[in-house]
Amino acid sequence: MSGPVLGVETSCDETGVAVYDVARGLIAHTLYSQVKMHADYGGVVPELASRDHVRKLLPLIRETLRKADMSTRDLGGVAYTSGPGLVGALLVGAACARSLAWALEVPAIGVHHMEGHLLAPMLEADPPQPPFVALLVSGGHSMLIEVTGIGCYRLLGDTLDDAAGEAFDKTAKLMGLPYPGGPALAKLAETGAAARFKFSRPMTDRPGLDFSFSGLKTQVLLAYRAHADEANAKADIARGFEEAIVETLAIKCRRALAQTGTRRLVIAGGVGANKRLRAQLADAGEREGFRVYFPRLEFCTDNGAMIALAGALRLQAGLRDDAAIKVAPRWDLETLAAV
Ligand code: KG4
Ligand code: ZN
Repeated sequence: MSGPVLGVETSCDETGVAVYDVARGLIAHTLYSQVKMHADYGGVVPELASRDHVRKLLPLIRETLRKADMSTRDLGGVAYTSGPGLVGALLVGAACARSLAWALEVPAIGVHHMEGHLLAPMLEADPPQPPFVALLVSGGHSMLIEVTGIGCYRLLGDTLDDAAGEAFDKTAKLMGLPYPGGPALAKLAETGAAARFKFSRPMTDRPGLDFSFSGLKTQVLLAYRAHADEANAKADIARGFEEAIVETLAIKCRRALAQTGTRRLVIAGGVGANKRLRAQLADAGEREGFRVYFPRLEFCTDNGAMIALAGALRLQAGLRDDAAIKVAPRWDLETLAAV
């Protein structure tokens, strides 16, 4: 396969489209977020998500090709998120992308959403080369992964309950913050004092690389009930919560680097957009002699560029999917084919 690859992301509440070329890099990308639509319900409503992808996907593909100054005939392949994610939302992207590739007689490939996230730093200048450790922190996942090549992923640690983004979202909700909670809570934390509320750093007092964030919610709820009327309590609690998550993630990242003997750390997924997490890990890296790679903020959260990139690398290596429209709402990252 040669030529630019169209990437389509529809696994949750963002419709993302991009054109990526292995030789030229990222050529164009567009994103439509459904956040406003789901905000009234306090979370993603799967059926509404699927219907909105139906409405937005074709216009976004047209817009992306226009931005790239291309027509469909210039495409060398098509990549789409085939899992994990919401089954209806995935099916919209898979059906559209797979059919387009069929009509254009170009190869198609289904991409693992989390592989997209973990390769997103490769969209930037001076990309990380394997081996590296990746911290994948999104709404559905908190994982530490040893990456020894594209498609060669070994799970070092996982969450036993809530994912990091889920912990941000649920904690924000119980503090009465608007959906989506993560960015709202992080913004509130900027005006909070660090020293006032000290929450636990779960599972850092024992060996291992797994996470558990669900207990933090209860700690926050109790503090919130006891101090809600006091001056600046909400912001101070938000700050204390953010410090607890960020420090816990940082401790486990250092451990994973020590365990694997790697000096490169990739941070990806929606929580990777958190400014305190970025600053704390960048500082730790400078002090302790490891290098930290982040995608730019807009490529931390869901987007089409990371799917186009991951798909282009797979298509270039000769991997292809057959003509069936298939999605995998649950899909283990360790089972991917090596590139
Ligand atoms: O990767 P993503 O866009 O979607 C999934 O694949 O899940 O991640 C979304 C998650 C949400 O839980 C959101 O609250 C969180 O990332 N998030 C943040 C920030 N921006 C997004 N969490 C903390 N601080 C942020 N600045
Ligand atoms: Zn995601």
